[in-house]
Amino acid sequence: MNDLPLFLPCAAGVEDLLLAEVQRITGGMGERRRGGVSLRAAWRDVLALNLHSRLTQRVLVQLSDSPYRSEDDLYEAARSVPWDMWFTPRQSFKVETTAQHSPLKSLNFATLRIKDAVADRFRDRTGVRPDVDTQQPQVRLFAHLTAERLVLYIDTSGEPLFKRGWREDTGEAPLKETLAAAMLAASGWDAQTPLYDPCCGSGTIAIEAAQIACGMAAGGQRRFGFERLAPFQPALWSQLQAQAREQEHPPTAPVFGSDVAHRMVDFAQRNADRAGVAQAVQFRGGDALQRMPPGDAPGLLLLNPPYGERIAVAGVAGSGSAAARPARGGREQAHMEGEGEFFERLASHWKKHYPGWTAWLLTPDLKLPGRMRLKESRRVPMWNGPIECRLFRFDMVAGRHEASAKQPG
Ligand SMILES: C[S@@+](CC[C@H](N)C(=O)[O-])C[C@H]1O[C@@H](n2cnc3c(N)ncnc32)[C@H](O)[C@@H]1O
Repeated sequence: MNDLPLFLPCAAGVEDLLLAEVQRITGGMGERRRGGVSLRAAWRDVLALNLHSRLTQRVLVQLSDSPYRSEDDLYEAARSVPWDMWFTPRQSFKVETTAQHSPLKSLNFATLRIKDAVADRFRDRTGVRPDVDTQQPQVRLFAHLTAERLVLYIDTSGEPLFKRGWREDTGEAPLKETLAAAMLAASGWDAQTPLYDPCCGSGTIAIEAAQIACGMAAGGQRRFGFERLAPFQPALWSQLQAQAREQEHPPTAPVFGSDVAHRMVDFAQRNADRAGVAQAVQFRGGDALQRMPPGDAPGLLLLNPPYGERIAVAGVAGSGSAAARPARGGREQAHMEGEGEFFERLASHWKKHYPGWTAWLLTPDLKLPGRMRLKESRRVPMWNGPIECRLFRFDMVAGRHEASAKQPG
């Protein structure tokens, strides 16, 4: 249990950030892979990674890696894994399969063969066949097929790690907590400068930031799959949890969020309460086009602004406003124009009132800098689920707006 091969999947674009985080948490060097990080680590690290990682989706222990050509090979490979070291036939399980360039015709059939092999092995050794539960399994197994190899993993996280245990209230398009954390990491926020999300929705970015500013563990409010696995030692887990709580401190930076929808501000506040950071983050209502900088010192604006039909711009530049109403064309046109105007006005507002601030915006709209009439100083590719996005950085240079506004002529 001291030298386990682990795989930590993450959103595409986040691998390098996760690599650095893994090193911070375990002290060990991982290896960057496509869509994740692999490393060798002790069981204690498995618990620590689950508790502290903000970027990975789950922590998987690799149990076998074998060549295959047919479904029968999958069956044999899965049957030779000593599953009983990890769980008992009284526990329900589920197999999830992913594949890349696999020659097999049916992923469902491949999954079925692997599941049968696991159950048959238990039945042969103990006389009991474990149940499969595809909804709420007690144990999750993952199978990954490449063109020629089958890799089998046991999951130690349970529910994916973006579920931190504090979010009950969400808006229409909440960010995953892991993606909000990736935005914070990519921005290089040092947890010392003020942080403000002026389109905060249910508050994901601000709440993640507030927890970081308070030194809180990402998983302090949830349960984990490893608590049901055979190697689980409650004393070790209690020790790690206690150590994590000892590291908590008052916030090192002020964190703010606001949203034009007051219902969202309510959600964000309730989520912050549950996340234990009600005192470390301030939520307000208000239009991003009108809100002045919170606090005195410049800081970081970090947001995923409204985009498209689903999360339309609201407030003074919203599609219902006279300014944004098109002379002709449909609702979509209204949204496009409302959005174009929103971003242009947002940029002017920031240039005028937020000198010295740095703004980072996550958007699937690759033309956003053009709409804002700003030149980005960085663009970081990131995936929001299947949607390709960019995290754009804009520097609100102090004085530039005034300087150009005062030019004669
Ligand atoms: C994509 S969502 C942000 C989701 C958020 N990051 C979360 O995790 O819940 C965009 C948010 O912008 C808000 N919004 C739309 N127009 C706005 C405006 N003019 N000023 C401030 N917020 C606005 C919407 O109410 C919505 O909550």
